[in-house]
Amino acid sequence: MQASSTLAAMQAAEALRAQGANVVDFGAGEPDFDTPENIKRAAAEAMRAGKTKYTSTGGTRELQQAIIDFYARTFGTNYEPGEVMATSGGKQAIFNAVVSLISPGDEVLMAKPYWVTFPEVVVFAGGVPVFIETEETGFVLSAEQVERAITPRTKLIILNSPCNPSGRVIPPAEFQRIMEVLAARGIFVISDECYLRFVYPPAEVFSAATLPPELRARLCIAGSFSKTYAMTGWRVGYALASREWTREMLKVQGHSTSNPNSIAQSAAVEALTGPQDSVGEMLAEYTARRAWLLNALKEIPALSCNEPEGAFYAFPSVRECLNHEVKTSADFAARLLTEEQTVVTDGAGFGADGYLRISYATSMDQLREGVTRIKRFVERLKT
Ligand SMILES: Cc1ncc(COP(=O)(O)O)c(C=O)c1O
Repeated sequence: MQASSTLAAMQAAEALRAQGANVVDFGAGEPDFDTPENIKRAAAEAMRAGKTKYTSTGGTRELQQAIIDFYARTFGTNYEPGEVMATSGGKQAIFNAVVSLISPGDEVLMAKPYWVTFPEVVVFAGGVPVFIETEETGFVLSAEQVERAITPRTKLIILNSPCNPSGRVIPPAEFQRIMEVLAARGIFVISDECYLRFVYPPAEVFSAATLPPELRARLCIAGSFSKTYAMTGWRVGYALASREWTREMLKVQGHSTSNPNSIAQSAAVEALTGPQDSVGEMLAEYTARRAWLLNALKEIPALSCNEPEGAFYAFPSVRECLNHEVKTSADFAARLLTEEQTVVTDGAGFGADGYLRISYATSMDQLREGVTRIKRFVERLKT
């Protein structure tokens, strides 16, 4: 198994900070906001009320219902209790879905660039990751690309829109075309919707849950509280899938982590049913930072960047900056760290050599300082 490149970037920043360096960290894969107070209060109340025991493997009824109601309210869906389970983060929803489905030799499609965990989980289950190149379409997966990649051994595809690391969003009409191609061939789908709510106009929030039932028969939605409610440390997510698939996923979870943390489950209920102002406030902040960052990156002509419509990442190409000393994006990231104490994540870990992931889950001051450093570094490389 490969170590997570995103976690490696975090550790590199920590090490430099420990030496007293003034580090600018664009490596973060998590919100820089604190968990909203109402959610923390719900957790404290849950502890006082003794909600400290095992729960059902798939989570409390209350949380399952809150997830069902959220999707019904937001997307007009009608999921039933046997089709939902709470998980220890979106990551475990993906793990459950892959492990319960994949047999040795099954092929699993995923677009490049991919979130680092996708291929690792597939390999863990004995499957074969099959990567779809999407550079020609600016990293937005198309139905045609999916169709070309399918073989008789294709069992599953993992979709991720908004995408980590590219921030790109598959337009809803194209998403539907992709699902039509897959449904026609009986291929299973995981739609990783961890960044569901962080989408910037004119792009629209879209969930695969809204597709017609015949396109959803083999769909598992993997969702998360981590990004939407700034709850990365609480470890709560969920899966929405058919009764049959959910039953199999419950077996995997039951024999691995049992239920998600009981206190975090109570907090997650409050997250979904309580005031949603904090989500709007975070979205407004990301919107402002994104606008500033995209403009600032345009001022560095040697970098080129597709406009990310979602999540909180920009994913520029640094290929034009490379030279005989700085030959790869990994070299670029390493030199930027030692020469300018600035952390970015090398795209190679996401299957996109030549690119860097810049997270704007950080303050405007840090963004300004970091972009100044990147610009200075690029200018040095070009001379
Ligand atoms: C694309 C994607 N999916 C899933 C996750 C998992 O999030 P969590 O397990 O914290 O819910 C992440 C976290 O970085 C992610 O970026």
